[in-house]
Amino acid sequence: MSSPSREQWNSSLGFILAAAGSAIGLGNIWRFPYITGQNGGGSFVLLYLIIVFTIGLPVMYLELSTGRFTQRGPVGAMEKLAPGSFWKIIGYLAVITGIGILSYYSVVAGWTIWYFIKAIFQGFGGENTGTAFSQFVASAPHQLVLLGVFLGLTTGIVISGIKGGIEKISMILMPVLFLLMIGLIIYALTLDNAAAGLKYYLIPKTSDFTKTTFIFALGQAFFSLSLGMGAMLTYGSYLSKKENLVKAGFLVVLFDTLIAIMAGLIIFPVIGGAPEKAGAGLVFVVITELFCTLPGGRILGALFFLLLTIAALTSTISLLEVAASWLMDEYKMVRKKAALIVSGITFVIAIPSALSLGASKSLSSIIKIGGEEKGFLGIMDFLFGNLSLAIGGLLIIIFVVFKWKLKNAEDELYHNADRFRFLSLIMKPLIWFAAPAAIMVVLGFMLFTGKTLS
Ligand code: PFF
Repeated sequence: MSSPSREQWNSSLGFILAAAGSAIGLGNIWRFPYITGQNGGGSFVLLYLIIVFTIGLPVMYLELSTGRFTQRGPVGAMEKLAPGSFWKIIGYLAVITGIGILSYYSVVAGWTIWYFIKAIFQGFGGENTGTAFSQFVASAPHQLVLLGVFLGLTTGIVISGIKGGIEKISMILMPVLFLLMIGLIIYALTLDNAAAGLKYYLIPKTSDFTKTTFIFALGQAFFSLSLGMGAMLTYGSYLSKKENLVKAGFLVVLFDTLIAIMAGLIIFPVIGGAPEKAGAGLVFVVITELFCTLPGGRILGALFFLLLTIAALTSTISLLEVAASWLMDEYKMVRKKAALIVSGITFVIAIPSALSLGASKSLSSIIKIGGEEKGFLGIMDFLFGNLSLAIGGLLIIIFVVFKWKLKNAEDELYHNADRFRFLSLIMKPLIWFAAPAAIMVVLGFMLFTGKTLS
């Protein structure tokens, strides 16, 4: 049960920036470019955009409406709308997925801290950026300490509370990140390879589609928009009835997608075509190369990695918040205890991911997915960052349509936003048919065609 004095956002802008802060993170700047590179470039981008607006946006609206209506996190929301029923599983799946994502996400976020420190004390010149990256991720002490530091930072902010912590940080820093990225795009576009890179990135070719393109595009859309695990639902629960959900949700989707596309506009002009090897290191290697050639690259590099660390933080805060708010709502735990318990468990689960980029040979290469050899971190990313989110998104749709009823969700969505009711004409068929059908086809395809993933 939530207390009557549940915290609320100070302003609509505060919510939009904080929700955009959850959405915008490593998913846009680290994951989007390398998944695009692995899946053929332009066609992936096109498919991604279609999925974001036809599946992502409707699911975003369902999560925000459910959260604001119930004023609870995912477990409490299901309990309130369907007391004592199995629907609560959606909430538990959300909590588990949040911890699963947080574990490996914090490892990658630790890298951003390291690159920030490196820019300040050493700079990026005079070394092969690829080799430097491989050596760094293979060092167990580096990986474990940075993981601990990053999780510690996330926990500290979550403990400091909704308004004080999350809102302020997002409000100031997201616009700075945006401006810096615009500057980097302009510079990247002046490079010799730019035209070839843009061609690969922006022009779709049907031959680029592979069996796995769709699942990766769907997974990336959910991951990037923080959907399918109750993060947006939880943020919606802190939103007041006065706010216009239609507008707020749309702006979050728009900003998030813009930043992802912008990240590609920095990376691909530097590479100049299909990346030779598009793995988890792609962005770290390519962007440090860019900073090597850029006048003032060291200072800008430091600023870039600092902002990336903060963008990652505003995302991990929401990942931790889902599990912590469950403990607070259901077990009446105080915020501090709840956050510490979740982050302690997450640290332990994160250890194999931290060691899976070279420190431990057996954890570094386990299975082939999408033609790429995956280690423990890659498997966690695929299971939690792709599959679980897609399943969670599908379950939320099914829950709203069959249990809570779409009419109720719509009433909440269009509350104080009556002039947008016409959107229902598009949203209804998307929610009833298109979105669930697409997700089910993708999941079914994976389950029933044995070799889909190799
Ligand atoms: N959307 C975040 C990103 O793109 O980095 C990651 C994320 C945050 C996924 C919160 C899921 C979530 F619930």
